[in-house]
Amino acid sequence: MYNEIMAVLNVNIDHIATVRQARLADEPDPVWAAVQCELAGANGITIHLRQDRRHICDRDVKLLKETVACKLNLEMCMAEPIVKIAEKIKPDQITLVPENRAELTTEGGLDCASHKKRLAEVVKRMHKKGILVSAFIAPDRGQITASVQAGCDAVELHTGMYANASTQKVIEKRLTELMDGRNFAMENNLVVHAGHGLTYRNIAPVARIRDLCEFNIGHSIVARAVFVGIRQATAQMIELINKSELK
Ligand code: PXP
Repeated sequence: MYNEIMAVLNVNIDHIATVRQARLADEPDPVWAAVQCELAGANGITIHLRQDRRHICDRDVKLLKETVACKLNLEMCMAEPIVKIAEKIKPDQITLVPENRAELTTEGGLDCASHKKRLAEVVKRMHKKGILVSAFIAPDRGQITASVQAGCDAVELHTGMYANASTQKVIEKRLTELMDGRNFAMENNLVVHAGHGLTYRNIAPVARIRDLCEFNIGHSIVARAVFVGIRQATAQMIELINKSELK
């Protein structure tokens, strides 16, 4: 089971594959990126195998499973062919997300309340293979309750609304929602992760929230990596997470 005490970083390396796919070439290779992230101290590597394979492809998932020594977290929707791939590859953890073919990135959280039956089935199948299950949800009591009832191990609280907030008042409101979500999830024995839209500029207030034990961050790290390299970009984010005082 989970044993993290302090918050740790999973680097989402989807956009390394996005650059590769822009030319349908064989570089840059997400496997190389994962090695650099691990060497910089990342606790996990996150990849999203989308149904349209727009960035990460099946070959990446297979090779990363063989090469990543830290946690491999596979983001995925609950479509049957994808669920079958997860059962076969057996990542350490899956994070269930909604998937809309037209979206630029994952938009909202998973509606666990409306898909409770399918969610419970997927959780059961993953647990049979020894895979932890996290659900990417809005910090909402109904969604947290549905995740618990379906048997999830963890929830990843969607930080996108916090990241998009443009006034201090709204930022404080979103942080309070995240803390309330954390409290309710923990009362229900869920492990609590967070992610989406987090950057070097907005990570500190979220990293200060006690018991958020895993951050999934992608775009901002890969964007910085273009200029400083992915090892340094990862190390800089870890430093920001670690130096935030918990409250
Ligand atoms: N968490 C989840 C569930 C996501 O779908 C994504 C985007 O793939 C992220 C975190 C990372 O978001 P960002 O790229 O904005 O850091």
